[in-house]
Amino acid sequence: SGMPLKLTVIGTGYLGATHAAAMAELGFEVLGLDIEPSKIEMLARGRVPMYEPGLEDLLARHVAGIDGSSGRLRFTTSWEEVAEFGDVHFVCVNTPQKHGEYACDMSFVDSAFSLLAPHLRRPALVVGKSTVPVGSAARLAERLRELAPAGADAELAWNPEFLREGFAVQDTLHPDRIVVGVTSERAESLLREVYSVPVAEGTPFVVTDFPTAELVKTAANAFLATKISFINAMAEVSEAAGGDVAKLAEAIGHDDRIGHKFLRAGIGFGGGCLPKDIRAFMARAGELGADQALTFLREVDSINMRRRTHMVEMAREAVGGSLLGRRIAVLGATFKPDSDDVRDSPALNVAGQIHLQGGQVTVYDPKGMENAKRVFPTLRYAATPLDAVRGADLVLHLTEWREFRELDTAALADVARHRRIIDGRNTLDPEVWRKAGWTYRAMGRPSA
Ligand code: UDX
Repeated sequence: SGMPLKLTVIGTGYLGATHAAAMAELGFEVLGLDIEPSKIEMLARGRVPMYEPGLEDLLARHVAGIDGSSGRLRFTTSWEEVAEFGDVHFVCVNTPQKHGEYACDMSFVDSAFSLLAPHLRRPALVVGKSTVPVGSAARLAERLRELAPAGADAELAWNPEFLREGFAVQDTLHPDRIVVGVTSERAESLLREVYSVPVAEGTPFVVTDFPTAELVKTAANAFLATKISFINAMAEVSEAAGGDVAKLAEAIGHDDRIGHKFLRAGIGFGGGCLPKDIRAFMARAGELGADQALTFLREVDSINMRRRTHMVEMAREAVGGSLLGRRIAVLGATFKPDSDDVRDSPALNVAGQIHLQGGQVTVYDPKGMENAKRVFPTLRYAATPLDAVRGADLVLHLTEWREFRELDTAALADVARHRRIIDGRNTLDPEVWRKAGWTYRAMGRPSA
């Protein structure tokens, strides 16, 4: 028809809110839907329900009703409106780990399909972006055929998303690659139209079948998790042997088949994706009778979890063998910097373990305080790093915020009870701390 495609985005979390804004930026009319009216109200005013750099600016450029915006981006809670509006519907709801199980919870995806499909009366492409167990797309395509009044004119495609929190806007506008699982040429050509701008800029566009598209996402995350656990395993060996894992990582990283990225040893990975994705992957492989292929991921997971207990042991040792009554300042609560996300956060887990062993934990985080307080109301929270460190017997650096690399180490030295710091992320400069009188220790590296 020559008219620009109309897109909808179902689920407005990190993934959906960013995808919706990015698609508006690319010039499409976009309608976002969430089942939580409070989220929709916020987004419709250009406000983001979480901290994600650059996202509010992008919303301000496009949300209808905001002064000077393109008006291309609107929000709703109505499935009917979404179904009537969209040529292409992106499903961006979350798939968390099931309680007490490895498998992931598909209920949000399933309910999104059940709620959307009965309203699909005109030709539409439904595009799954959520991370799902392999085989889900085939099952959901079947459901769509059963439920959509448009019948075969309502089709499914799978298009995994690789964005990182903290870089969501950049990763969405300038992805490394675009992967689409399709079963028809029509689906492929619609997706080529959606992504024509990044593809014209040189982004590789990989066309595949459903199971491969689903697997690409899980395999990528499994590889990244493995890389981190590999270097953390080397940290364990380095510590035992008196070696320096940071130097080791630097040296092996010069081999460009290995590379420098994702080789930072420390308290390990967390967040809403890597831990649950490797577990769901193992669970699914088990169902498929391929569990042997992924037993190494169990090791990846246990190396990762061991990092947290190891940090607690290092802390206990540093304060003389017992944490009871010791004041521990914890710098960082989020699972990574530039995010307010504390889901499966190694930092908060370590803080919690120390608290359970009788330590008096005071936490400071640049953006994660509210979420941390909600998850862990019994810890103490300080408004500044200086307040957290005041009177501390030990400082733990657990999330690598830039702010922590720029701390006034002398001023902190003046207020601490003992000048002891353990760097759980290997990103502080040991010399800077030692010069200010601190005993600096890091994971997998010899003490000076
Ligand atoms: C990850 C994937 O990177 C992304 O492609 C996918 O779409 C979702 O999952 P994210 O969860 O945002 O993204 O975090 P990421 O930047 O990958 O970091 C994950 C965790 O690994 C963090 O806790 C981080 O601190 C830790 N990490 C990362 C290390 O411990 N060492 C490293 O070298 C790198």
